[in-house]
Amino acid sequence: MNENLIDRAIDVLDANFQEGGFTIPSKGLYPFQWKWDSGFIAIGLAHYNIEHAKTEIKTLLDAQWQNGFIPHIVFHSENDSYFPGADFHRSELHPYSSKKYRSTGMTQPPVTGFVLQEMYRIAEDKVDMLNFIEDSIDKVYQNHAYFYANRDPQNEGLMFIYHNWESGTDNSPVWDDIWETMNPPEYEFERKDTTHVDAAQRPSKREYDHYLYLIDIAKEHHYDDARIAELSPFLVQDPLFNAMLIKSNQALIDLYGLIGGKEIEITILKKWQKKSIDGFNNKLFDEELGAYVHYDLRNNRPIRFVSSSSFSPLFAGIPNQKRAKILVETMLDKFGGDDKYLCASFDPTNERYDPRKYWRGPVWINMNWLLYNGLKDYGFTEVAERVKSDSVALIERDGFFEYFDCRKDTGETNRVGYGGGDFSWSAALLIDLLKN
Ligand code: DGY
Repeated sequence: MNENLIDRAIDVLDANFQEGGFTIPSKGLYPFQWKWDSGFIAIGLAHYNIEHAKTEIKTLLDAQWQNGFIPHIVFHSENDSYFPGADFHRSELHPYSSKKYRSTGMTQPPVTGFVLQEMYRIAEDKVDMLNFIEDSIDKVYQNHAYFYANRDPQNEGLMFIYHNWESGTDNSPVWDDIWETMNPPEYEFERKDTTHVDAAQRPSKREYDHYLYLIDIAKEHHYDDARIAELSPFLVQDPLFNAMLIKSNQALIDLYGLIGGKEIEITILKKWQKKSIDGFNNKLFDEELGAYVHYDLRNNRPIRFVSSSSFSPLFAGIPNQKRAKILVETMLDKFGGDDKYLCASFDPTNERYDPRKYWRGPVWINMNWLLYNGLKDYGFTEVAERVKSDSVALIERDGFFEYFDCRKDTGETNRVGYGGGDFSWSAALLIDLLKN
């Protein structure tokens, strides 16, 4: 059974691999290279085609800007099945943007550091993989240096994001109160996503107005981070984004240690790491909710909701064992009923939860992969195994969808897979879960 699933997953990844040396997340809906998708995809590729895994990361890093920034989408082609495309984002406004690739002017969670470490873990030929890592790692380090220099205006070790698409959890209910503080114009544009996917599973038109308006403000200031920090109505310290950075910092420390001769970088990374972990634990843990939460820097207030991002610090070793236990209790209490698959993307006990809509409730395989590994690291083996078997059950039942209904009984039909079909990271991370 598992072998069969792995073969199907490989077919999905191979079909989505492009001549330009990268993998699209899903045909039609997402026709370019996405930053964090690329990282998760490389982990799956490493299990059966190490050259493709290396190419995936090499292509992403090739699109890095001169200031170390790595964009969220690299537009490798003129494909017009996606909106907003390169002509809307206009990355060329930034003086240091890539001259070779057009891209967005926003980023996504910094997973590339820990992805290199995962590739090293998986590779059979460690010498060859370490050579590859040696060629790539300084670019990832420069990316982290970019964050610490430009995205932490209060020097707290916590990076801001200025757009919900930078979080990866695109239309989470966590952002709803920020939209309430804004009044963007009504944009006229042609949605492309809803030609590929049922509109009921995607963000609303009004939500898109907010998304576009934030980009327009950034563009007006040529994507200058200092101006964005001053002016953007959306300025958030996100626990998932910062946990990915912290996990990747540690990976860079470990990998530089293996490579040798990189004492200066290691010393700087350790300094960043201490500041970030302390800042994270002091500022983002909500005692009353028993979970980490987002912080709205623009409006100076915590955003007090529990989402799957609230548990992602487990993956990065951020909480102590006592706090980790509280997190697991909160997860099981709110997300873990017998009628549900783990782990919904948003608190099922909250009125904003919607089990069908993009990041407002459905289960995502990448989040489950992070949680599985984090829970295992802290010794919560039973819950970890449940997250893994739920992930496998969802994919076995409906295929390699982008996201899945967390309800075991959806009422109407038995279908639980939503969004893009033959979705690359669902396939890639399933391979890793099954081979783990
Ligand atoms: C989308 O278009 O919804 C993308 O996920 C943005 O990254």
